[in-house]
Formats: sequence, structure tokens, C-alpha cells
Amino acid sequence: MPEPSARPVVFQLKEAFLTAVPLLPKNAPFSPEEINVLNKVVSRTTPLQRSWLAGFFAGFEVAQGGQAAPAAAARPRVPLTVLYASESGNAEGLAIKAKKAAQKHGLDARVVDIADADMGLLAKAKNLVVYASTWGEGDPPSRAADFYHALMSDGAPRLDGVRFAVLALGDTSYAQFCATGKAIDARLEALGATRAADRIDLDLDFAKQAVEWTQGALAKLAPTDAPSSTVVHADLHSSAQAADEDAPLYTAETPLEAEITALINLNGTGSTRETWHVELASDAPGFTYVPGDAVGIVPENDPDLANPYLSKAHKEAYDLACKISARLLPKTGAYHEIWLDGEKAEDKSGEAAENEEPIYGVHYLPRKFKTVVAVLPDNVVDIFAQDLGFIAIVEKSEVVGYNVTVGGGMGMNHGETDTFPRTADILGFCTPEQAVDVAEKVVTVQRDWGNRELRKRARLKYTIEDRGIDAFRAELEQRIGHKLGKPKSFAFQSTGDVIGWRQGADKKWHLTLFIENGRVKDQTGHALRSAVREIAETRACEFVLTSNQNLILANITAEARPQIEAILKAHGVSITASSGLRRNSMACVALPTCGLALAESERYLPDLITALEDVLDKAGLRDADIVMRMTGCPNGCSRPYLAEVGLVGRGPGLYNLYLGAAFDGTRLNKLYAQDVDNAKILKLLDPLIVQYANERNEGERFGDFVIRAGFVTATPAGNRFHEDVKLAG
Ligand SMILES: Cc1cc2nc3c(=O)[nH]c(=O)nc-3n(C[C@H](O)[C@H](O)[C@H](O)COP(=O)(O)O)c2cc1C
Ligand code: SF4
Repeated sequence: MPEPSARPVVFQLKEAFLTAVPLLPKNAPFSPEEINVLNKVVSRTTPLQRSWLAGFFAGFEVAQGGQAAPAAAARPRVPLTVLYASESGNAEGLAIKAKKAAQKHGLDARVVDIADADMGLLAKAKNLVVYASTWGEGDPPSRAADFYHALMSDGAPRLDGVRFAVLALGDTSYAQFCATGKAIDARLEALGATRAADRIDLDLDFAKQAVEWTQGALAKLAPTDAPSSTVVHADLHSSAQAADEDAPLYTAETPLEAEITALINLNGTGSTRETWHVELASDAPGFTYVPGDAVGIVPENDPDLANPYLSKAHKEAYDLACKISARLLPKTGAYHEIWLDGEKAEDKSGEAAENEEPIYGVHYLPRKFKTVVAVLPDNVVDIFAQDLGFIAIVEKSEVVGYNVTVGGGMGMNHGETDTFPRTADILGFCTPEQAVDVAEKVVTVQRDWGNRELRKRARLKYTIEDRGIDAFRAELEQRIGHKLGKPKSFAFQSTGDVIGWRQGADKKWHLTLFIENGRVKDQTGHALRSAVREIAETRACEFVLTSNQNLILANITAEARPQIEAILKAHGVSITASSGLRRNSMACVALPTCGLALAESERYLPDLITALEDVLDKAGLRDADIVMRMTGCPNGCSRPYLAEVGLVGRGPGLYNLYLGAAFDGTRLNKLYAQDVDNAKILKLLDPLIVQYANERNEGERFGDFVIRAGFVTATPAGNRFHEDVKLAG
């Protein structure tokens, strides 16, 4: 089993309400080192000491015959009204900052909550800056509703002579992006006001652009007759706003990076709540606090984890998959020839017929062969269930190579213990350049070593069981002409798809839709098939089928996203599943489609889950991620032996129940009950779910719990799958 590795997580600290001490700004006329040294001294000074220093240096310059810096010339103060429409405080925060910045532009700013404003105030304003967010579905914040409707009404006053600028806050994941700000901006112009600066529409990462826009807008609204030398550049980015004693030293835009030295969950085991005790260490200059101060902690994920699609690593992994596919494709033209009574009746093979089959020779492979590539931490391809796998090892956003896995597979036969599911072994590490050759040579070893006499033992997993992983590695290394490296440490998180919207590094959107058991069909109130057809007709996205039977609508632009959402909504299509159990469930087709099926699967699992959802509700586990998979026979097409709860058909209405696989797909489950019907399955699982809710350790997965609680023993390797079975009574 792979060793878990620590995942780097950067925590940043924003100090929202801490008392600031004056520090030299970055643009002070000193080198960065000098600023640092001076700040260390200044950060410990009292107001009296600072006044003394200021007087001392000014007096010294005069005594030397020099000139002390002239006091800023008095400038005309021009009134400015800063209005904000805010629900959760973002627009309000920007308005307050704008007031401070306005002083530096010779503007006398007054900040007004739109909830307290009326049309009279608006008409009297000479200069106006509006910060407005959007809520609901394109609505103004609730407190701003009255003002907003008055402004939009026919009774709104003319605003000739008012100069204005609007900053709109919103979220691009909403169809009506920044609707309130846009409407206010248009209405002010329609009422005769003059736009001093173009409106800006900002997404959730608004902080930096808002500061820049505010500076620009204030500069346009500032009195033009003021001597330019008196305009002081207010560097809102600077962590040290020397001129503004009240400003917080560290903010969301200028967070303090601090090391987390302790992180302890204060809630007891079994609690569904989390209260964290966090200890932070920082020796940053000027960082002081008093009891009652509040601190905001902003955890940051590695961008590759937060944006798995279209990240560089995923692109490289995808490219490798394409190259392996191209290399392993049969070159023979035999598939294009038709033979009848010993005579070649048709030959469409063209050039291919001339070519020899370089990899598969005349015998091909003894059985099917599956290859996958995984990008940590998502094991969505269930790599340990596959013949050959490559785990991308990513360092600083670059794929530095791959851990190679071999010998996974699911199928077995009931009652034949020399057949078993098996998790793949980790063979070694190879560089990106070596990977395709490694894939080819693994295939050739299986071609030459695979069991061609006994079909049920023909997969690569049995070749490795029979010959041993060391012998297999030695043979492979001999064929590739070099040794494989030592596997790198890694950790997967889960085998499930992340359902819902995700944004790629290139800002395109990807929607993973939960498709129950992979069946795209119209049902009453949930016309999935019609919705998918209509979406296809828009040509606004690509379709990607996942290894978990779900559907990704990929590469959607921000502009096209509302259209996709509207189509889904119009057809009643919900993006996600009704519970964590359903979200993580899979069934093979089984009856009536599959000739090998012994029992129902696709047509039965949804109903079983509905019944279990009642118990999950009572246990407070409706949203808990628990992996459940079902097949109609032991061939294991939906990978039931890697499910925390696995059900495998034995006969009409009867199943074997397996428990205890690892959530991340690294450990097989174990037989828990044999030949159980629907009633017995519920009778066995109901109390287990309740016990799990009550007794699980913090973060403990269901598959791990059933082992710790003694319901099944862990299966450490495929060849121990049939060992240590204790059937439930
Ligand atoms: C329930 C809810 C509904 C929202 N609706 C919209 C919307 O329709 N359009 C939009 O652009 N942003 C929408 N937003 C995003 C907010 O406008 C955004 O978070 C903004 O920064 C909030 O600013 P405020 O704290 O000043 O209210 C919504 C946010 C929430 C929580
Ligand atoms: S697991 Fe068995 S029943 Fe299900 S699809 Fe595969 S072969 Fe058919």
C-alpha cells in the first residue's frame, strides 16, 4: 500500500481588526533592507517618540541651512458621496477604504449606506462613487431594495451635474453577474449624471482590482485646480500605510503569512461539528494584538488541486495516455479482412496489411488489458483495479515522472478461490520520457508470460501472482534496458468524481453531472436525455465520460455557462445526487442487457439506496461520502470489490455483501454475508450505519470503521481476499 505523504497547504492570516502601528511604506526613499531595519525600530515607538523624531530631523535640516519638507499646500476640498449597497460587507469595506483614499485626492468624502440614502441625497451629490453588490438572482442587497426601486422608478429625480463612477461586485458563477451595479450605472446615466470613470464588474477575487479602480476613479473625480505636487499617492497595497494610523496593518489584500504550529479539533469523537484550536507563529514587524481582536485565516490549496482540469499536470497526463494508446494500438490489418470458407472474401486493410504486428505478434494478448493514468490526489480511474497504471508525480506543477502500477483486476468466479480480485503492485518509478516504452514492454512481458491455457487465470494479475513481482520487474528492466527508480511517496484522497462546477486554470468552466449508474434517460421531472441533447446542440461544451459513470460538460466559457444552467434547470436536471451514498454509487447494467448477469444491478441499486437514505437521515449521515457498488455477477464490472459496501449477484434477488474497502481505492473489501436478499441487506446495514455515526473516529471512513469495529478483517492483498472470512449471523 502506498505511504501517505504530507500535502503542503499554505495558510495565510489576514488581520482584520488589529491595531496598526506606523511603518514606512514600500515607496519610502530607502532601500528595502533599510526600510526593514527602520520598521523594526519604528514599530516599537510611542506617539511621543515619533513626534520627537519628526521634530528633531526637521529642526536639524533647518539648522544645517537645508530646507525641511514643505507642508502640503492647502487645497480646495471637494465633497464626495460614497454610497454602498452591501449584504455581507464587501462593498461596505470598499466604501470605507475609498473614504480614506479620497482624502489624498482632495476629496471630502462621506460614506453612506444606500439603506439610509434617498433620492434627495442623490440629487444633491456633486461627486458620487457607488459600490454595489448583487444578491439572490440578480437582485440588490435586501437593505438596498427601497433605494434601488426608487432609483429605477419614474419618480427618480434628474441628476444633471452629478459626476459618478460605479463599482459592481458579484460572482461569475451566477447568471445575473453584477446585475445591480450594472443597472445602477445605466440608470444614473439615463437620469443625466455624467460618468467620470467606466464601471468595473468584479468577481469574488475583487480586492486588488477594486483598489486600482478606486484610485483611478478618485483621480478622475479629484479637483483639477489642486496643485499636482500636493497629491499624495495612497498605496493601498502597501502593508504599511504610514499615513493612516487607523488602517489595519494586515488585510485580505495584504495578508500576513504565518506558520501553523498547532491544529487541534476541540470536539470529541463522534461529533459532527468541528471547532479548531489554531496556534500561529509570526515574528513579522508591527504585528501586535490585544484580547478581543479577530483574525481571519485563509487556507490556500495548491492550484493544481483546486483546478484539476486543464492544469499543466493533467494536460501532461492526458498527453501520456494518448501516446500510450497510439503505441499500443494494433497495427495489423487483420481486423479489416473477412474470410469465408477459407477464402479471403474482403480486404479493407490497405497499407496495414503489409505491416507486421510489432507488439502483439501473431498471438496477441491472452486476455484484455487495461491501462490508466492518474493525477494525485484523485484516484478517479481506480488505478489499483487496472492491469497497468501510471501515477503522475507532480513537483512545483511539473510532472517529474510516474509511479508504475501493475497487476490490478476485479474479476473472479464464485466458489473458486484460485480466482480473486487483486490490487495492483507499485513496480517502480519512471521519467515522463521512459513511460511509453515501459508501457509497451509491460505488455510484451504479459504477451510472453501470460497464461494461455487457463482463461480464468490469463489476466496480468495472475502472471504476477505466479511469477512474483520481483521476477516481473527484473524481466521488464531487462527489456527496457534500465532499472526503474524507487517509487515516490504519494497519497490518493478518493475514487469519486468531484460533482458540480469547477474552474480550470484557463478560467474555463467544467460541470461534472452525477448520472445515476451512467444511464442518460428522461424521467418524470428529470429530463436528462433531452437536456443533454439540447446542450449538445448549443456546441458550447465538450462531453467527457468519467470512469465513475458520470458526465463532464467541459470547456465552457463564463458567457456560455448561464445558457447551460438554464437548459438544465428547464429540464429539471439536478447536478448532484440525493445523498453521499448515491453520489458514490455505481452499478453495472446486469439484467436484462448482460448475458452473464445472475441478479439485477442497475435496476435495483437506486431503490436500495433510497431505503438506506432513511437510515442515513436518522444517523445524520445523508451527506457522508460512502462508496457503494453493485454488480450482477462476480466479473466485477463496476469494481464492487473496491467499494466500502460491495454487492455481487449470486442468483435472482440474492447477493454477496462485502465490506471494508479503502475509500481511496487502495484496499479490497471482504465477504461479510452470503446470499442475502433486500430485507437482509437492510437488516445488516442499518445498524452498521447507526454504529458508524455514533462511534467513528474523527474523519474515519466507513470502510476503515467496519474493520476497526471488528465486522470484517482487512484484506491486505488479492491473494488473501478469501481468507479470514467471518460471516455475519
Ligand atoms: C445567496 C447569494 C446570491 C448571490 N447572487 C448573485 C447574483 O445573482 N449575481 C452576482 O453577480 N453575484 C451574486 N452573489 C455574489 C455576491 O454579489 C458577492 O459575494 C459580493 O462580493 C457580495 O458583496 P457584499 O458583501 O457587499 O454584499 C450572490 C451571493 C450570495 C451569497
Ligand atoms: S458484472 Fe457481470 S452482470 Fe455486470 S455487466 Fe459485468 S459481466 Fe454483466
